[in-house]
Amino acid sequence: MSWLSNLFKKEPALEPADLSLLKTDVHSHLIPSIDDGSKSLEDSINMIRTFKEMGYQKIITTPHVMSDFYKNTPETILGGLEKVKNELKRQNIDIEVEAAAEYYLDETLEPQVKGGKLLTFGKNYLLFELPFMSEPPNLASFIFELQTNGYTPILAHPERYGFYYKEFEKYKELSEKGVHLQLNILSLVGHYGPEAQKIAERLIDEGLITFLGSDCHNVMHQQGLQLARTKPYFHKLLTSGRLKNLEL
Ligand SMILES: [Fe+2]
Repeated sequence: MSWLSNLFKKEPALEPADLSLLKTDVHSHLIPSIDDGSKSLEDSINMIRTFKEMGYQKIITTPHVMSDFYKNTPETILGGLEKVKNELKRQNIDIEVEAAAEYYLDETLEPQVKGGKLLTFGKNYLLFELPFMSEPPNLASFIFELQTNGYTPILAHPERYGFYYKEFEKYKELSEKGVHLQLNILSLVGHYGPEAQKIAERLIDEGLITFLGSDCHNVMHQQGLQLARTKPYFHKLLTSGRLKNLEL
């Protein structure tokens, strides 16, 4: 549990931030058994209940769609969402839950843009992630294709792509092109390592982050979220006025 070491860092801890200031989470894996997130309906309900207790009012959950590993479709995702919503209702847990997806950018994704079957949320926002090894050669054309077809791209966890660490200007270029950058809250407690944390903080300092997500897969991630709520950078971003989570 990498964020545990953060508990012992000498850094001023603030009062846990009020998550109703964020309102909506835009990135999580809470549909049971269709990706590497929630393992059962019970698991999903427990995590959603905790989100509600933390102060979130709405959850947009985003199962992985990857042509090799997670061959999810709107049917598997929305079918799973229905089961989750029914169970929430049965247990009288009152929180808004929607689903979209976290699309992995490989060569199979771009041809699907025109088909109109990609899952989005809010103002036709489409959440996508990159491979961790290198920037894919079709990134620019994919973004162009999305935008010309009326989608607004959101890049998931930009702070996790090591290939950008020495080219920070790439983040600015993406943002200037109209790509929203979605930070993972757990990056602020070092969950993905010290470098990702440093980049996360710089992205906040430079005003490049417009969405915050939990990227919650399991209960351990939620414990990390609780810790993140006491971090000065989390407070800084929450009060920056830049986050669009509130509009959803
Ligand atoms: Fe994710």
